[in-house]
Amino acid sequence: MISTLLGGLSADEFLREYWQRKPLLVRGALKDFKGVFSKPELLELATRDDVESRRVWNTDGQWQLERGPFSSRAWRQKGPWTVLVSGTNLVSDEADALLRQFDFIPQARLDDLMVSYATDCGGVGPHFDNYDVFLIQGIGQRRWRIGAQRDLTVIEGAPLRLLKDFRPSREWVVEPGDLLYLPPQYAHDGVAIGECMTYSVGFRTATNQELAEAFLGYLQENLSLKGRYADPGLKRPKNSAEISNEMIEQVAATLARISWNKQTVANFLGAYLSEPKPHVFFEPPELPMSERKFATTVGQRGFRLDIKTQLLYRGNRFFLNGEPFDAEPAQRAALKLLARDRKLSANAVNPTLLCAFYDWYCSGFGAPA
Ligand code: SIN
Ligand code: CO
Repeated sequence: MISTLLGGLSADEFLREYWQRKPLLVRGALKDFKGVFSKPELLELATRDDVESRRVWNTDGQWQLERGPFSSRAWRQKGPWTVLVSGTNLVSDEADALLRQFDFIPQARLDDLMVSYATDCGGVGPHFDNYDVFLIQGIGQRRWRIGAQRDLTVIEGAPLRLLKDFRPSREWVVEPGDLLYLPPQYAHDGVAIGECMTYSVGFRTATNQELAEAFLGYLQENLSLKGRYADPGLKRPKNSAEISNEMIEQVAATLARISWNKQTVANFLGAYLSEPKPHVFFEPPELPMSERKFATTVGQRGFRLDIKTQLLYRGNRFFLNGEPFDAEPAQRAALKLLARDRKLSANAVNPTLLCAFYDWYCSGFGAPA
């Protein structure tokens, strides 16, 4: 399966030679791929307020961007345009399954499956993205032009990261089921030949600044320093407006007590990476079954995570939608399996987990399979 997806390469070969390094075009990566969504299904998603969408077109040389949700009247617009729907894996099991085919990349690096629909000649303009992306062609054809240019100067004031001077060096027309992998910051431009749909499996990374800010926020929430500033034996100042050396030294010593280690970083990453995006809401069951009924049902059918749930782990500590969960030794194997496969068969469910699973079920994080 993977070797078809990667054009005969093993996952290890792909990671060694292409990942974050150079583009790869795979013809027929997904055999008989007709896409996950029909055109009306995708356009319908773009009208929902719980789904992120954007529409892009060009009027007289000026790129325009409009954010969803859209009214269906928007689709009457003549000429070339593209609608991009993000996070489709959060609302469709088939979209989620497509994304999971890329699980030779850690889930901690995975972002989402974005799907675009374009009318003839539609595209978002020559640009670069800051993430690795697998672009899978759904229905129709698209002409991709790509280039390894260093000059990534963007057009100022444009609604997208559009390149001022795009210099493509390679060009392909892709068909349904073809896949194009692009590393971050690789210049590209895809133009629809007739109506077309493209599936982008994206692996966004945080900037160092974003990571540091998020970590400092995490430290702040989890910090507990004892004591209080004190100055017995205070000397009378020459000028009462001056901040004294003694005060600076004492505060510097206090701040030096803020410390962290690899465990702190692991706990931060677990919470940060498994935290649902701001617009994601879980739907608890309206009439939850009793705990007893739940145990019998899971005993027969197994347990699965909700499509929006993120479960990661490090060592014995699991992170479920931003919250840590400490597993007992006997529970770990089953939870690791659940984190990877997103479901557990009835006989793989450790009975000591039923209580936690029931809590998760009542919060909408999972359900009997
Ligand atoms: C598209 O699907 O139209 C654009 C995807 C991309 O270039 O990143
Ligand atoms: Co792009």
